[in-house]
Amino acid sequence: MKSLENSYSRRNFLKTGMGALGGLAGSFLAGSAWAQAMRMTTPRQTLGPFFPDEGDAVHEIRENLDFRLPISEANDNDLTHIKGHKGTAEGQVIHLEGQVLFRWQGEAKPQPGAVIILWNAAASGRYNHRGDREATRFKHPETGQWVERTHDEHFQYWGRCITDDDGRYSFKTVVPGFYPVDIENGWYRPPHLHFMVTAPGIPQLVTQLYFKGEAVPNNELIQKLNARDLILRDSALTREQQENLIVEYRRSESNPDVLTGNYDFMLSF
Ligand SMILES: [Fe+2]
Repeated sequence: MKSLENSYSRRNFLKTGMGALGGLAGSFLAGSAWAQAMRMTTPRQTLGPFFPDEGDAVHEIRENLDFRLPISEANDNDLTHIKGHKGTAEGQVIHLEGQVLFRWQGEAKPQPGAVIILWNAAASGRYNHRGDREATRFKHPETGQWVERTHDEHFQYWGRCITDDDGRYSFKTVVPGFYPVDIENGWYRPPHLHFMVTAPGIPQLVTQLYFKGEAVPNNELIQKLNARDLILRDSALTREQQENLIVEYRRSESNPDVLTGNYDFMLSF
């Protein structure tokens, strides 16, 4: 009966509250458990060829020397710095944060203890993976200048975050470079971040998140690449699902050198 009561008062609230309270009601609803439950399940995207398994890395990066951990889980959530290195990664620094939510029986609940692995290319567009050796030098599709996809020895390339009691996570990384897949046909992967989200008893989520926002360097080009990327524009996904994977970044108010983005991973069966 509880859910019926809830839906009644919700409707009442919508009828009476929205007009009078306007944005306040909107922001309340956006944060409510009900609004969360209404949000779409995070769409899946391919794992891709550059997931960091043991032996794949060109430069092994393992901050945590507990060798029972797979290498993909042996680094922290700050990809801009490797423990023990003096330098920091090249490129635009970003903070991405949000929650892992699990929707079941019409409710979305925060998922504590979910393991999130993030891996992404360096600002040059190069992965720390033996498989990434094609077109390490290519002509920029707009400027015609050569782009060198070089390794960044100070970039951590992958990291792990475990969600807290509220299902919250955060990562610090850089905007990856775009890179060519099929130069002849003009297909370049737009900058994207790869994620694997694992929680006990829930199907694992593998996906990719993309970029937009005035403050994002080369945003205009990135939007062109987003528009024609064959993975983001997977025909099995609706337009709404595709747009769900594009995260807006804004300049941080506390640190203008950093861009911040927010994304909640919604898991479901
Ligand atoms: Fe990729």
